[in-house]
Amino acid sequence: MRNFTEQSITDAALGRITSECDPRLREVMTSFIRHLHEFVRETRITPEEWFKGIAFLTECGTFCDDKRQEFILLSDTLGVSMLVDAIANPSAPGVTESTVLGPFFRENPPIIANGGDLAPGIAGKRVDIDCRVTSEDGAPIAGAQIDCWQSSPDGFYDSQMGDGSAHNLRGRLTSAKDGRFWFNTTLPAAYPVPHDGPVGALLRAMGRHPMRPGHLHFWVQAPGHRQVITHLFVKGDPYLESDAVFGVKDSLVADFGSQDGPRTKVHYDFRLKKAA
Ligand SMILES: [Fe+2]
Repeated sequence: MRNFTEQSITDAALGRITSECDPRLREVMTSFIRHLHEFVRETRITPEEWFKGIAFLTECGTFCDDKRQEFILLSDTLGVSMLVDAIANPSAPGVTESTVLGPFFRENPPIIANGGDLAPGIAGKRVDIDCRVTSEDGAPIAGAQIDCWQSSPDGFYDSQMGDGSAHNLRGRLTSAKDGRFWFNTTLPAAYPVPHDGPVGALLRAMGRHPMRPGHLHFWVQAPGHRQVITHLFVKGDPYLESDAVFGVKDSLVADFGSQDGPRTKVHYDFRLKKAA
């Protein structure tokens, strides 16, 4: 086949996928090619615009290293990460809801004992975090693994500080016999997603702000249960209605107490669904 037209080229591209292709890859690529071709036809993309798009993706790639992930940022700010999460982790009654992982999770965080400090040496209002991990029926789960990470009060994660090698404002805890885990840290503040790269330029071009409401990240895992990757958002934060990555759910907004005074506290129960 040759002499393709604006319409016939889609079937031609789909027809090049052979029987050697994995069935799921065939399904995904067939849909992707169809939608991508339809997008080009619908918007009447010009060659200049197409090359601009390719240059944008190329720049996203050059911004990535082991501490900066521009493609996750792109996925998050376009709402795709939350869409994928909504399909994978539909809300269920009595189970803690999930939200985006975000680009700042790091492997091998410091081990923090219950009662420990997640943010040693970081100035700012302190908050005592007192949480519990339970099964969906309310039974406490001992020995759950909880990874927690957050930004500093001025809006930076550890990977954005200094040379980015130090681990701070993050840690791994284990729930006690009664399912509790507790630590102290600095009160998280609203912060902008990294906006000095191509994704930031795109947000500005679309007239959007890069802000996320203050939050702590949690990744809770326990044997016999489905893991949950989620946040606790600070009630009253002005950006709860316009989170740049669409991650806010009402059930994840927690009362961190009075904003006055040097110290505050929050309590939250993480309820995990039993594994099927
Ligand atoms: Fe975050």
